[in-house]
Amino acid sequence: MKKNYRIAVLPGDGIGPEVMQEAYKVLDVLKKHFFISLETEEFNIGGIAIDSDGFALPKKTLIGCENADAILFGSVGGKKWNKLSLQDRPEIASLLALRKHFNLFCNLRPSKLYPEIKYLSPLRPDIIQSGFDILCVRELIGGIYFGEPKGEGIKNNSQYAFDTEIYYEYEVSRIADVAFKLASTRKNKVCSIDKSNVLQSSLLWRKTVNKISKKYPDVNLSHLYIDNAVMQIIKNPNQFDVLLCSNMFGDIISDECAMITGSIGLLPSASLNEKNFGLYEPAGGSAPDITGKNIANPIAQILSLSMLVRYGMNLNQIADKIDYSVNDVLRKGYKTLDICNNDNYVTTSKMGSAIADSLINGK
Ligand code: IPM
Ligand code: MN
Repeated sequence: MKKNYRIAVLPGDGIGPEVMQEAYKVLDVLKKHFFISLETEEFNIGGIAIDSDGFALPKKTLIGCENADAILFGSVGGKKWNKLSLQDRPEIASLLALRKHFNLFCNLRPSKLYPEIKYLSPLRPDIIQSGFDILCVRELIGGIYFGEPKGEGIKNNSQYAFDTEIYYEYEVSRIADVAFKLASTRKNKVCSIDKSNVLQSSLLWRKTVNKISKKYPDVNLSHLYIDNAVMQIIKNPNQFDVLLCSNMFGDIISDECAMITGSIGLLPSASLNEKNFGLYEPAGGSAPDITGKNIANPIAQILSLSMLVRYGMNLNQIADKIDYSVNDVLRKGYKTLDICNNDNYVTTSKMGSAIADSLINGK
């Protein structure tokens, strides 16, 4: 019998609900034209959930996610909630809490240079002429984000605060395994990022990655210090295939990779656990400055849905078609404000409709 997929939809704050509307259009096409049996249920998350339920991650939302096959996430956070203590802010109390709760240790962030909008890249044309296709594999529930102890105090009349960067061998092994496996379906190259000239935790990181690499003799492994890596990415992004990063370094590097494609509004992500359950979200955040104006770019949200179809449903060909539709509308000249260098930009909703239409036509 054909499986019925249950998707928990969490639009959240800022541009989340706007771009999610566009993902719904694509979901609709999947149901009506590709005959995928799926149902969606929406739940509150983030700042709006604090306002309506008193918690950034209400119980009902958590249960809804537990009962679903996948989570499609918008974005959380905004000025309004920045006065809360760090632990109570939407980012930590909902997004990081969900990542931890579901053991989503593996974060995949692909950044590809779309030929149609090459000119938007802040990099020189000669640097990007051959394009690039980088997959950032980021460890997502360890390292300094979650390491204990963390805290603050006062000593010798001076305030202090601290976090702990800690990695266990098993945490590094499992994310390294994912990076090598994915590299072997791509260009067979893994570059592991660390700071092992200074950090103890990076020394273990490098040692462990070397150990895991023995299982994958066909994959070429290199190592770069984080400071050198961020330089190499802007100097010659095409030299990279899979980047393997800790939580913190991956956070930074994935934004760099997104920016050199032209806009953070294009970057999707998948956060997966060992059972392949996943949360799919744009990497760009809630963008409060452009909220409610119908100008946000829905592509990252739609590509996140495509990742859900690929990794969550294992429907690679259909995911390819969604990706193709995004390319198709870009080629036809549809551009939202963030990727448009003149006044002829289209609205969020027009962009979403164009992608959905292209998907129907390309069926
Ligand atoms: C990301 C975001 C989050 C992170 C924030 C919102 C907690 O920047 O997904 O990259 O730092 O992981
Ligand atoms: Mn980030």
